[in-house]
Amino acid sequence: MQHAYDTVAADYAARLPDTRAETPLDLAMVDAFAEAVVGAAGGDGLVLDAGCGTGRMSRHLAGRGLRTVGLDLSHGMVTMARRAQPGTSYVVGALGALPYADASFAGVLLWYSTIHTPPDEQSALLSEAARVLRPGGHLLVGFQAGTGVRDVAPAYRALGHEVVLERHLASPDEMGTRLADAGLVEVARLVRRAVGSERDDQAALLARRPD
Ligand SMILES: C[S@@+](CC[C@H](N)C(=O)[O-])C[C@H]1O[C@@H](n2cnc3c(N)ncnc32)[C@H](O)[C@@H]1O
Repeated sequence: MQHAYDTVAADYAARLPDTRAETPLDLAMVDAFAEAVVGAAGGDGLVLDAGCGTGRMSRHLAGRGLRTVGLDLSHGMVTMARRAQPGTSYVVGALGALPYADASFAGVLLWYSTIHTPPDEQSALLSEAARVLRPGGHLLVGFQAGTGVRDVAPAYRALGHEVVLERHLASPDEMGTRLADAGLVEVARLVRRAVGSERDDQAALLARRPD
């Protein structure tokens, strides 16, 4: 998976430079997350863009007044993020072993970054994200809604990249259970129908770490 994103990083950055793939409903969830983080009492608005890819979502959050730090497993994706936003810290790292102390962030964004992790390993990622979240902090997770596995390789093969890449769908209820198991309280959820070339419905769950 890391190798796949290293291979496609430049094309990913060129074809998806911003939030044009997100619908207004998706962005409403992202912006509600940003407002919750900015509005937190005594907060410094520091957000971890966990699985940041090329950094397009952290750029969006920066535009909403948040300070962001990005982390991704793929060197290639991190290189693209650093190039596009030199003033932001982007590090190579794994969602399952975040290199941060407990309660470091006012917010954690997991925007389509858990999707390549098999379902039975996702709870561990969410627990790790909850660990670095401050009491009262918010987490937003975006993902394709449904069941089963999709082969993502053909889409990249069409661009000339030979990669092996799958993504796992999740039901919003499953994701809600994972968040609860991580000690988080669900605040809101979006489930919307697929549009355009999307194969699957999309979902985003907003959760809060109790005080
Ligand atoms: C579909 S892309 C989404 C990137 C970005 N969040 C966005 O919305 O453009 C998934 C990203 O998650 C990263 N990723 C997947 N699993 C990861 C893990 N276990 N640890 C760190 N990064 C991971 C991949 O390297 C890739 O950059």
